[in-house]
This record gives sequence, C-alpha cells and structure tokens, in this order.
Amino acid sequence: MRAVGIVPRQRHVAEVRHEHPEIVSPTQIKVRTLDVGICGTDREICTFVYGEPPANSEYLILGHEALGIVVDVAAEVTQIKIGDLVVPSVRRPCADPNCRPCRMDRQDFCATWKFNERGIHQHHGFMTEFFVDDEKNFIFVPPELRYRAVLAEPLTIAEKGLSQVWSIQSRLPWACDQPGKPKGDGLRAVVIGAGPIGILGAMVCVLNGFDTYVYSRSPKPNEKSEIIESFGATYVSTADTSPAELADRVGSIDLVYEAVGVSKTSFEVMMHLGINGIFVFTGIPAPEGNLSLAGNQLMRNIVLKNQVIVGTVNADKASFCDAIRDLGEFHRRWPQALERIISARYPVEKFQELLTGKMTGIKNVIAFSE
Ligand code: BGC
Ligand code: ZN
Repeated sequence: MRAVGIVPRQRHVAEVRHEHPEIVSPTQIKVRTLDVGICGTDREICTFVYGEPPANSEYLILGHEALGIVVDVAAEVTQIKIGDLVVPSVRRPCADPNCRPCRMDRQDFCATWKFNERGIHQHHGFMTEFFVDDEKNFIFVPPELRYRAVLAEPLTIAEKGLSQVWSIQSRLPWACDQPGKPKGDGLRAVVIGAGPIGILGAMVCVLNGFDTYVYSRSPKPNEKSEIIESFGATYVSTADTSPAELADRVGSIDLVYEAVGVSKTSFEVMMHLGINGIFVFTGIPAPEGNLSLAGNQLMRNIVLKNQVIVGTVNADKASFCDAIRDLGEFHRRWPQALERIISARYPVEKFQELLTGKMTGIKNVIAFSE
C-alpha cells in the first residue's frame, strides 16, 4: 500500500510501502483516506527535529489532519457505518493507570508525556491509502463537508483554546451572559498570525461575537487579508503597525490567540494585553534562541491587570465535535472564505515538494482518493 513517511536514520522523506492494515479488534473501523492536510508540524518533522517512528518501525508515516470514508466496521461498532465520512483525532492515551487525564479520555492533558500522536510521535499517521483505528477516535462528518472537513483538525486547536478560555474566565464576570447574544459580545480579540490556525481561529472568534483583529506580517491587501476581511475580522499588518499602535486601535485587548509560533511578536503583543485579559499560546517555536523582554513591566501587568497566560495543545473529542459543527456554520455563512483557505489539492506524487520544497498557499491538501 502507498504511504508517505520519514526515514529518520537515512534522513529521507519518501514514499514507503506499508502493509495494508486489517481490523483486529471488535471496536475498530477501517477507513479509506480521502484528504490529508499538510501543516507546519509535518514540514518540521521533515527536517528531522522531531517526529519518531513507532518502536518496531524504521519509518514514520506522516499526516495528522485527515478525512476518510469508512469501508469496514467490526462487530461491536455502534455509531459509525460503512460509507460514513469521518475525521480521526490525533493523540492516543498513555498506558499509565495513574494518569488521570488519559484514563478519562483527556489525553490532550496527558500527565506522563507518554502519549503518542498519529503521524507525529511513535504512531503512524494518515498519509496512506487505508488506516484502522478504534471507533471512539473518529468523529462523524456530514456529507456537505466532504471538501472542507480536512480543516477540522487544525480548527480543533482553536475550539479547544476557546473552551479553555471560557472555563478559565468563568473566574470573573467576563463573558457576555445576555440571552440571544454570543459570549464574546462586547469583547475584543487579537489573533496573531494569518496561517490556517490563525484564520480558522479568527473565524471562531467572529462566530463567538468577538470584535476580531488579525495581526500578521504581510502588508495588505493580500490573499489572507482579503479572506479575513470577508468574514468580518480586521487585518492589521506588522509592517505598518507596531504592537502599541495595534493596542491603541483595538482598545482594551481582552483575548489574544497566538497562532504564529514566534516568541518575539507574541511577547510584544502580550505587553499590551488589557485588564482582565487572557493570552492563549498555540504555537510551537524551535527551542533555540533567546529573547530579551521588559520582564518587570510584564510581571506588573499580569498582576495588576489580573491577566492569564495559558498554553494549549492538541484537542479532546468535544473540540473535534465543535470543529465539525462550526465548519458547517462557516460553510453556511462564509462559503467563499472557507473555500479559499484550501489553496490546492495535489496528487500523492507531489508529496516531496509539498513537504520539503518551497510552499505557497494557505492549506495544501493531498487528495489520496476521490
Ligand atoms: C497538531 C496537534 C499536536 C501538536 C503537537 C499539532 O500540529 O495539530 O494535534 O498535538 O502538533 O505534536
Ligand atoms: Zn497540523
């Protein structure tokens, strides 16, 4: 069976021949891969900074953003049927009986760090013709999202981030509680970065009623600024607006959703977080490099302004369900914007340039089959 992976020992990104997977337990389903999205994580794995094959394998099959169609179900599968479209989640729990999060299906908070992640860490991914997994690791996708649901996994990062925001900020009167109004009504959000995670994050912010600004490098107009302004957010470029000027323009910044993976810009914006504000980190920069910052000022702000700085990684099943629901909503409200996020669909043969070449576009997708 065709598959695309890394062979770390040879430092190769290559097509590998992988054994066709079979169902081996009564709760599993078998899926034929339709679409696989490519993200910064995949491209970084292809530089061999991280990404680890399963214990018994020389290679790691890539791909963690996938959409597939169910081709077989085992005897005890109850919810999912042959022919359904499904999206798989990424992280699988550790085996430690004392890991409370993993034992409660919250491996996104795994306390031992012995989880594995499909396509990333010690577990093969979805850049392959077929894959098998347990029913509980899949989320049903309605047919109208056939050409959009590959965006579900990157959207889960924002969904989990925002659900964390609501639960953290329930410590004070912050969210709008007026009936009929979204919880973000009257609040202002700044999204840093205009890649797929940033754009999808901004869509979630707008949907939740935040007055939303996206702060990113390229001067406008550009493809991303056009998409962003078409769904009601405001695009601001770092090229002509400093973080202080951004804050002046926005007013008090209630929420920052970081989706750029660059610490310098992030901490510069953090200096301007508003009273009672919350700053959510989602980016994973390379570990090297130092930053000097106005630590005293930052610490004063955090204390005197009751601020929260929080990191969030991966997503739980509820966030996957929220992502599918909101993709449906985006598809109804902003069909063109959603369509434009997926820049192009490529055949498998293009994997090398997509993963290691110069990449253009917003979200590139490998179409494994129709
Ligand atoms: C994925 C997450 C994963 C993280 C760290 C991201 O690209 O979307 O699911 O937890 O990488 O490996
Ligand atoms: Zn990803």
